Amino acid sequence: MLKPMKVVLSPRGVRRVLARHPWVWRDDVLGMPSGPSIYPVEGKRGVLGWALVNPESQISVRVFRFGDVDDPLDALWENLQRALEYRRSAYEDEQAGLRLTYAEADMLPGLVIDSYARHLVLQAHAAAWEPLLDELAERLRESLAPHSILARHDSPLRQREGLPRYRKFLYGEAPEAVTVREGKIRYLARPNSGQKTGAFLDQRDNRLFLGDFVKGRGYQRGLDVFGYQGLFGLQLSRHLKSVEVVDSSAAALAAARANAALNHAGNLTFTEANAFDLLRARERAGERYDVIVLDPPAFAAKRADRERALAAYKEVNLRALKLLRPGGLLATASCSHHVGEGEFYEMLAAAAADAHRLVRLVARRGQAWDHPVLLTVPETHYLKFALLEVLA
Ligand SMILES: C[S@@+](CC[C@H](N)C(=O)[O-])C[C@H]1O[C@@H](n2cnc3c(N)ncnc32)[C@H](O)[C@@H]1O
Repeated sequence: MLKPMKVVLSPRGVRRVLARHPWVWRDDVLGMPSGPSIYPVEGKRGVLGWALVNPESQISVRVFRFGDVDDPLDALWENLQRALEYRRSAYEDEQAGLRLTYAEADMLPGLVIDSYARHLVLQAHAAAWEPLLDELAERLRESLAPHSILARHDSPLRQREGLPRYRKFLYGEAPEAVTVREGKIRYLARPNSGQKTGAFLDQRDNRLFLGDFVKGRGYQRGLDVFGYQGLFGLQLSRHLKSVEVVDSSAAALAAARANAALNHAGNLTFTEANAFDLLRARERAGERYDVIVLDPPAFAAKRADRERALAAYKEVNLRALKLLRPGGLLATASCSHHVGEGEFYEMLAAAAADAHRLVRLVARRGQAWDHPVLLTVPETHYLKFALLEVLA
């Protein structure tokens, strides 16, 4: 039997695409070609859009253009150009760290490209990108004149797509560490070896916001828990007397120390510890702080982990609230997209109640502006960030 050169969706799949969700699960596909590529997506009444298709993936269809188009590849490159233009003025700063494409939210399914002082790191987690990588690199060079382009394709996510894992420069080379500016501080991003693509850019605006907020308010003692390379701590250290950065990873703390040295920040200290143990021990010791940051990893990697994750979030938030002086600040985040925004704030309220503290919400924030959220795609909104003030 001849394989169809298009994707035919079930009625449920059609409803999903009409509701402007770009993903269609394998179960909602009635027929599709046998290999990954770009294909039209059809319901009963004709073409609904064009998609990156991979029969091997659970998410078999990722729409990048709703409606029909003469040249689908042109449409994909148009999406790329639009994403780059959206960030153009920020990219003008040669030392900026920013996300240039945020996958589905830029209609570039599975494609994330970050820039660290114009060294680009890309991750393409949809199989149909693989044969397009050289052209993608060429277009990025033409549009942005970067110093280097690294395909960091070493994530286990690639296996779900049946893709090989590798790391390879598509253009130029990058040094082991690149200096990036973030407001008044600088840090070393490690595109080749750091967590994520080299830094947590999604928290950039929250770090800057917190740094600005504490300025001139007389706070003295800070604790940056789950601190990784100390970037929240560094923003705080400009206005506080001392800040302790806590992480369970020795490599993360080595990076934090290097960042402190780069900024001549002598008021930072570094502690390698499990955050859960450390917060409990500090409470037992009667320690008090003015500002605490909690930026844990995603406790819920999958939906089934949600309850356990919420309990873990509550535990660290409750401990932190108990450790704060009246008037103190808790900057707290969750990057688990399986934990919804409503659940996150309910968890915080429950933690405040159990800690017997009167707490007010000062700011309710999310991902940095270069990680925009599609309203019809809840998966694109994963980062919750609250700034809380303990009144009493
Ligand atoms: C989301 S990252 C923090 C990013 C950082 N705040 C920033 O802005 O760059 C989470 C960090 O928590 C650390 N971590 C994970 N589990 C931990 C634990 N139980 N105790 C302490 N640190 C932990 C990881 O090593 C990682 O560096």
